[in-house]
Amino acid sequence: MSEGPVLYEKRDGGVAWVTLNRPDVLNAINLRMRDELWELMHAVRDDPDVRVVVFKGAGERAFSAGADISEFGTAPSIAEARRARRERDLWGLILSLDEVLIAAMHGYALGAGIELSMCCDIRIASDDAKFGLPEVSLGYIPSAGGTQTLPRHVPPGLAMQMILTGDPIDAPAAYARGLVQRIVPRARLYAEAETMAQAIAARPAGATRLAKRAIVDGAELSLASGLALESMMVRRSLETASLPR
Ligand code: COA
Repeated sequence: MSEGPVLYEKRDGGVAWVTLNRPDVLNAINLRMRDELWELMHAVRDDPDVRVVVFKGAGERAFSAGADISEFGTAPSIAEARRARRERDLWGLILSLDEVLIAAMHGYALGAGIELSMCCDIRIASDDAKFGLPEVSLGYIPSAGGTQTLPRHVPPGLAMQMILTGDPIDAPAAYARGLVQRIVPRARLYAEAETMAQAIAARPAGATRLAKRAIVDGAELSLASGLALESMMVRRSLETASLPR
């Protein structure tokens, strides 16, 4: 394990844990953390042993309070900032992964913190979690995909409310509106995430990959095209399945 802003731990059974590790600043995502996540996500993509990745935040108070606001305005120029973002599209990379991604969130999940979780496939929260996109109240708009991913997870009106007011919602509201799939007591959060991760990692690899791709890629298609995509995935899964057909 490194002692940097991101910790990485490979466990038995095809499960790996990624810890956002800047607890003193509520795991704010700074450039160094982004760079390390960028390298790490490539390593995950290229490691056939890793089937499921769980993200969590270090410390007692937050999954992540979002982008590091102390770095705002520090890029040499707007063009430079845009170029860096184009070259290193961390959120696009995470969304493209075939591995199953779980966010295990406690405390604050704000800005890029909640946006990271929305690039994951399944979100589990502890009962103390708070979710919000405060960017507009700072004069920005979400820039880690939030304007596009949030309305895909919650009803459009709630996405509007959260983004336009910047006010957070609590864990029960997030659960009721489908933003998180489970709420658990804080003390059980990581055990529950590990149990879910291990259960998924124990399923046949080809089937979980193809099922995830069918869901993710199909979400952008018409029903007819989505069903055609599913048929193609079914054929592929039959080719790779170990059971007799
Ligand atoms: N970037 C950089 N530092 C951050 C941060 C962020 N996004 N969020 C929190 N921190 C730092 C604080 O500056 C503080 O550091 P300090 O102890 O050196 O002063 C430390 O984390 C603890 O935060 P603090 O504000 O003292 O805790 P709190 O309980 O009073 O408030 C929050 C918690 C989350 C409400 C508040 O920290 C906050 O609003 N953070 C910014 C959230 C945000 O706007 N994120 C999106 C950016 S687009």
